[in-house]
Amino acid sequence: MVHRVPVQETVSPAKLAEPITFPTSNRIAKNRFMKAALTERVATWIPDDRKKCGFPTTDLCNMYEKLTHGGFGVLLSGNIAVDANHLESAGNVIIHHSIDSPERREAFKCYAAAFKAGSDNLAIAQLSNAGRQTPRALVEHPISASDVQLLAMRRGCGYGKPRALTIEEIHKTVVHDFAYAAKYVYDSGFDGVQIHSAHGYLLAQFVSETTNKRTDQYGGSLKNRNRLNLEIYEAIRRLIPVETGFIVGIKMNSKEFQVDGLECDDAVYMCKEYERIGFDFIELSGGTIEKVAFQHLSESTISREAFFFEFSAKIKAVLTTIIVYLTGGFRTVHGMVKAIEQGACDGIGLGRPITAEIDLPAKILSGEVQSAILNPYDQDYNISSNVSSTQMWQAQQTPYNTEKGVNVGIMDINDEETAEKYKAELVKYNAKCFELSQAGVPIKGVLEFQV
Ligand SMILES: Cc1cc2nc3c(=O)[nH]c(=O)nc-3n(C[C@H](O)[C@H](O)[C@H](O)COP(=O)(O)O)c2cc1C
Repeated sequence: MVHRVPVQETVSPAKLAEPITFPTSNRIAKNRFMKAALTERVATWIPDDRKKCGFPTTDLCNMYEKLTHGGFGVLLSGNIAVDANHLESAGNVIIHHSIDSPERREAFKCYAAAFKAGSDNLAIAQLSNAGRQTPRALVEHPISASDVQLLAMRRGCGYGKPRALTIEEIHKTVVHDFAYAAKYVYDSGFDGVQIHSAHGYLLAQFVSETTNKRTDQYGGSLKNRNRLNLEIYEAIRRLIPVETGFIVGIKMNSKEFQVDGLECDDAVYMCKEYERIGFDFIELSGGTIEKVAFQHLSESTISREAFFFEFSAKIKAVLTTIIVYLTGGFRTVHGMVKAIEQGACDGIGLGRPITAEIDLPAKILSGEVQSAILNPYDQDYNISSNVSSTQMWQAQQTPYNTEKGVNVGIMDINDEETAEKYKAELVKYNAKCFELSQAGVPIKGVLEFQV
């Protein structure tokens, strides 16, 4: 018996079935659903041979092939690193000229094909550079906007003191790497890219005053702090012009919730600039590793369901053409339709709910369900993010099979016995991660758990 999130009101899903037209590329998403980026951490990882790291694998393709049967208008990949060193985790998919090979290009073509295997959804690759959020076990002194160290720990690992990028490095390395990776995925068969400028990653480090203490043309005023994202857009468009129909979007925070962090008014200005320059879409999120915001931080968001509803509504109100996706907290058709009707967004990004149930959008659109499967740990990001990582791993273990459907092998964390066993394994897994991290060993992968 599957338990679902209780619904306040039964609502028609018709609004969610409406297509979305991207204003610059003119491409059309068949409906308003987008699978949000969820890092997988299962790409090849051979530390002694960097050229063999970061290949998308057949297992990963299994999961995306299943997702093409899930009813999404847009499928976003998990973050793909555009710098061979500055990963969010060992096991990230990587694109970088220094490690390119015909084999990698072939693997990427298969990867892109998996995103298109069963449906006409759009396939978008998320491109990222972790900057100061690169685990210390990978890089002792990562790059950043300035030398402000991240004093936090994830999976038992801290973060080293960063160094500020020089202007030459910003141009020749950062801008170049994002544009190179965009062209790479374009050549592989993706429909577009999303540059990751949210959650405290390198591009967000430039935008935020918490981490940007520069005094040159990339620091100080908001215009200066936002410069890099605009330069990356222009560099991508130089390689892949608008006429190709290639989609370029950006994920950004609507608010950072930390000292000197990005405020909603800053995001309003930035989004207007993204619209002016020609980005096709913005995906709004919030928080960083320093201040995780993937849970309800106030009473008002509980009733609105989406964590960043009020910020998104404020931002969308000043925009005219650019498409706004909102991600974080959506669990019911009522919450999703309300967000669109009340002008908070055009599209709905889904993260954790769809790792438990890959075809949630299809079930919503057919009228079969009104809400996501209940997750008792939804308000605990530590547990729920691990649950999602494990569920993605479970989805990767078998190829798509028409008869068995897309959710075969995925655990139901509502089941008490499963939850107890899983939590016990998670305690052991966290202890192991801590031990390895303390020994300076990068952690690849996720908690592998089979029901
Ligand atoms: C396991 C996991 C991995 C994630 N990886 C990424 C990522 O690679 N890039 C990104 O922008 N956000 C990432 N996120 C954040 C999600 O895209 C999303 O913003 C967040 O989960 C809130 O949405 P939800 O409430 O629907 O889960 C991740 C979240 C989870 C749980």
